[in-house]
Amino acid sequence: MKVAVTGHHGFIGSVLVPVLLEEGHEVVGMDSFFYQGCDLRPDAVEIKSVALDVRDVSPQDFEGVDAVVHLAALSNDPLGALSPELTHEINCEGTLRTARSAREAGVERFIFSSSCSMYGASSHGAVAEDAPLKPLTAYAESKVRAEEGLRELAVDGFSPVLMRNATAYGVSPRLRLDLVVNNLAAWALTTGKVRILSDGTPWRPLVHIEDIARATARFLEAPAELVHGEAFNVGADGENYQVRDLAELVERAVDGCEIEYAGESEPDARSYRVDFGKLARLFPDLELQWTVERGIEELVRAYRQTELDFDTFLGDRYIRLKRLERLLEEGQLDDRLRRPATDAGAHAVH
Ligand SMILES: NC(=O)c1ccc[n+]([C@@H]2O[C@H](COP(=O)([O-])OP(=O)(O)OC[C@H]3O[C@@H](n4cnc5c(N)ncnc54)[C@H](O)[C@@H]3O)[C@@H](O)[C@H]2O)c1
Repeated sequence: MKVAVTGHHGFIGSVLVPVLLEEGHEVVGMDSFFYQGCDLRPDAVEIKSVALDVRDVSPQDFEGVDAVVHLAALSNDPLGALSPELTHEINCEGTLRTARSAREAGVERFIFSSSCSMYGASSHGAVAEDAPLKPLTAYAESKVRAEEGLRELAVDGFSPVLMRNATAYGVSPRLRLDLVVNNLAAWALTTGKVRILSDGTPWRPLVHIEDIARATARFLEAPAELVHGEAFNVGADGENYQVRDLAELVERAVDGCEIEYAGESEPDARSYRVDFGKLARLFPDLELQWTVERGIEELVRAYRQTELDFDTFLGDRYIRLKRLERLLEEGQLDDRLRRPATDAGAHAVH
């Protein structure tokens, strides 16, 4: 089928696209290209893509498209803190505009990259999809509102699927180092210290980006009655960790490093353990292939190969907030996170 991937140029997108091509799909990309040049390594494949902001999409952009995988977003809590209003505008309104446009164009399936962070703080065991949502940040709130709007758009012939991904890790051509596992491993390798900002007690579910990609491929092909308007936690029950456990795994993987508690931040209220039983029950042959332990080995190898140093680690190449702040400072983006008119690349084909 012909699949349009929004945000295809990001951390998850640049690993998802080759997986979808391998599955035999035709793939087109749509992205505002905020992270152009933020490369760890070249893309594995080139696809046809347009420079397009999801706040501007229209049904014509989805002509001939069978399914949309919607990744485009301000993609974490620190970015959400940059501007709660823009986070709502891009992550919620942009998502609903994209979905309405897709539906009008006759697209039948809309896979939304949502997030387990909407569970916020759950102290009583692992939470399943029907647990109360407690978004603690503008980012998590934007995902909750987008899911609500998408459910309302579900009709016969248009099936939104809500992928509540665990926190991702892994190596991607568009690496991110602002995600917990990738970040802890980078601290260890570049400084010899695994630096934990919280007290290490918060729980997080983790999932490798290749496993997210494989799950996405399954959601594209599943019968509509199995997935129509449904939310799925994406990850594995055995892959819930406390941050201090993650740090210990990193400590074991990098010779001579030790754990350090920075003790400089407020206690982290975000803590949730997630139940992934629904995914395992409805997709019994979807085996997630990665564990955090293996993921850390992969990351450390990639950091060594590319000779990652401390300045690059904490610079603006791999940390999304820093990159956007730089683009704002340099006037490459205006305060609505739009390209100034002169170099607007809207609809430019890459
Ligand atoms: N990485 C994770 O841990 C994780 C976990 C759960 C859910 N998600 C969700 O998955 C999606 C992808 O995450 P990622 O880690 O690849 O993030 P990313 O920041 O690496 O990629 C996001 C992409 O979206 C594009 N984009 C941003 N705003 C846009 C706009 N207004 N119009 C068009 N394109 C725009 C960016 O240029 C970028 O290429 C996001 O929706 C994120 O919220 C990520």
